[in-house]
Amino acid sequence: MENTVYDSLLEDMKQGLGKRRYEHVRSVYEECGRLADMFDLNGKTKNDLLISAILHDITKPFDREIGQLTLAESLDLPLSEQDKESPKTVHAITGAALARKCYPDQVNDEVYECIRWHCTGKANMSLPEMLLYLADYIEPTREFDDCITVRNFFIQLTDEGEDPYMAVVRAMLLSFDITIKQLIDGGECVHPNSLSARNFLLNIVKKRDIIV
Ligand SMILES: [Fe+2]
Ligand SMILES: [Fe+2]
Repeated sequence: MENTVYDSLLEDMKQGLGKRRYEHVRSVYEECGRLADMFDLNGKTKNDLLISAILHDITKPFDREIGQLTLAESLDLPLSEQDKESPKTVHAITGAALARKCYPDQVNDEVYECIRWHCTGKANMSLPEMLLYLADYIEPTREFDDCITVRNFFIQLTDEGEDPYMAVVRAMLLSFDITIKQLIDGGECVHPNSLSARNFLLNIVKKRDIIV
């Protein structure tokens, strides 16, 4: 039954997203399956993660500037000034809302929140929110140097026997550090939610390093 739902949603994304984006989505879905197994997630939690993986980039075809703003308006979504200053991240806001509108039976609050925070992150992310964020960054079809660096770091940590949660936290922290530094170097705005996410992760690592 579940597989039928996944297959049906994947088919919808295949039709709507185009080949390259569909391959990314398919790969995020598979990466989330691997991460879910690493954490022994099952039942509703695993299902929510997989559904959010399939739907997370549902509004990516709308162009980054005008398209996303128009979509946000038509979905009645208020965007903050900071959202508008980081246009790459707006598809997470519109994506969560459109996914819920199109698939109300599949998109519960947990799925909605995973999609909502998959770009900027935020403080106090739940485990499924963190796993979607990481899967989106490290899935194997990603070829950017930064993605390869974070992917290899995560693999190295798990190979070395790091606790899975700390491996996710450390890999995410590295991804935020890389992304935030690049935004600063490029003279671009850093979304405050990304800074909150980075500090949230850093504090987990610091507490852990004191205990160990
Ligand atoms: Fe995305
Ligand atoms: Fe994505």
